[in-house]
Amino acid sequence: MIDLGTFERVVFFTGAGISVESGIPTYRGSGGVWAAYDYRQYACQEAFLRDPDKVWEFHEVRRRRVGACEPNPGHRAIAAFQERRPATRVVTQNIDGLHARAGATDVIELHGSLWRLRCERCGSVEPSTDVPLPSRKHACGAWYRPDIVWFGDALSRATIDAALAAISACDALVAVGTSAVVYPAAELPLVARRRGARLIEVNPEETPLSDAYDVHLRGKAGDVLPELVASVVGAT
Ligand code: OAD
Repeated sequence: MIDLGTFERVVFFTGAGISVESGIPTYRGSGGVWAAYDYRQYACQEAFLRDPDKVWEFHEVRRRRVGACEPNPGHRAIAAFQERRPATRVVTQNIDGLHARAGATDVIELHGSLWRLRCERCGSVEPSTDVPLPSRKHACGAWYRPDIVWFGDALSRATIDAALAAISACDALVAVGTSAVVYPAAELPLVARRRGARLIEVNPEETPLSDAYDVHLRGKAGDVLPELVASVVGAT
């Protein structure tokens, strides 16, 4: 196995696959969220404008289910590596908050978080872990929406810039559990490649971008990551 300890600045770039072993389904494929729920009804601004309560019911179910899940050995391996190597950055497409709950710091959440609310009118953002929500409306009277990037929403410029800064500066990028089909997130690892970083893919399956990677670790995140960080962290 490649020794991650030989790199100075590592970025972990994660997707839904890292949370599978915590009990959270991926988005695509059989059993995926978008196989069970049509995103046009539940995860886009048009749906929210049409029927905010219906969209909130979907997200409250997700908050209840995700809130009952725990970080797994994959999340913990990343947090432990970052603790010993503080130059490590975590860039995730996930909205579940499990990296932070495992102890990772300064996590860049490209697609926002299930655990923040944003006022539709004034744009103020606040943390929230209550399920159910005490109110689906902000004090100003306008609807809250989850502070996440729905289909058709633009990613926050500041968040992309933070991700690009981390990825441009890394000498190794470990992509974990992402199908690499959702843009612009999917192309971020290619920035690291252009800068000469080593690219490592952790995924039981091939992805459309697998060819861009130098190393392929075909297995589950919870099995592969503890081994990958072992030279720095010790056995976990
Ligand atoms: P996907 O559901 O598209 O892909 C999940 C990936 O995880 C697949 O490539 C699987 O092979 C892999 N996988 C499954 N089990 C795994 C395990 N135990 N260990 C490692 N990998 C495993 O999820 P994302 O790529 O994260 O956006 O999807 C990207 C975005 O699409 C999400 O952030 C979400 C969705 O629409 C928003 O919600 C805004």
